[in-house]
Amino acid sequence: MMHPDFFETDRHSIQLGAGAALLGGFAKDIGQDLIRHIHDLSAHTPFRHMETRGGKRMSVAMLNCGQFGWISDRSGYRYTALNPLTGKAWSALPPLFLDLATRAADVVGFRDFLPDACLINRYQPGARLSLHQDMDEQDRTAPIVSVSLGLPAIFLWGGTQRTVRPVRHQVFHGDVAVWGGTSRMIFHGIDALKNGYHPAAGHFRFNLTFRKTR
Ligand code: SIN
Ligand code: FE2
Repeated sequence: MMHPDFFETDRHSIQLGAGAALLGGFAKDIGQDLIRHIHDLSAHTPFRHMETRGGKRMSVAMLNCGQFGWISDRSGYRYTALNPLTGKAWSALPPLFLDLATRAADVVGFRDFLPDACLINRYQPGARLSLHQDMDEQDRTAPIVSVSLGLPAIFLWGGTQRTVRPVRHQVFHGDVAVWGGTSRMIFHGIDALKNGYHPAAGHFRFNLTFRKTR
């Protein structure tokens, strides 16, 4: 259950559906720290544009931290314990990341969320993520927690069928979306990023998505 007083204490938050909400500004006060961690992580594991199964270069650049990392290549999408480029484990989830993910999930009614993967997306102007379901995780009882940082974007929130026309929600630096329960398999995506400048992120939008993969 969503905390009953939540929508009274934060007017910028909206319920997206059952077990799904967009928490306006939830991570804003730690936004700069989160971006600093992203830069530290990317010094160790550079962002890269992976290939889709069909051989297309993704417009979004990605890197992973946590016990498992999400990868895409000619053999498809999956989570791995080792970075295929280095043969080494992914960097650990920073405690600040873990704490944020657990707190956000809790607000939407998912207690003790313990993600084992964090995919970090980096969007430059024009980059987009087409409508998809997050379906590479074995544990579908856990929610997805998604943190927006830097430039604003349009978050597309569809239905359980790809044909449902998505609702467009603008997401800003520090907004956190959580979806689980009967909303866990909703199609979602990000519209092509508009050019802009953000004081903490420059010409980029970053997104952290926390998942429990197994
Ligand atoms: C995702 O669907 O994995 C990320 C969505 C986003 O960048 O906000
Ligand atoms: Fe997704």
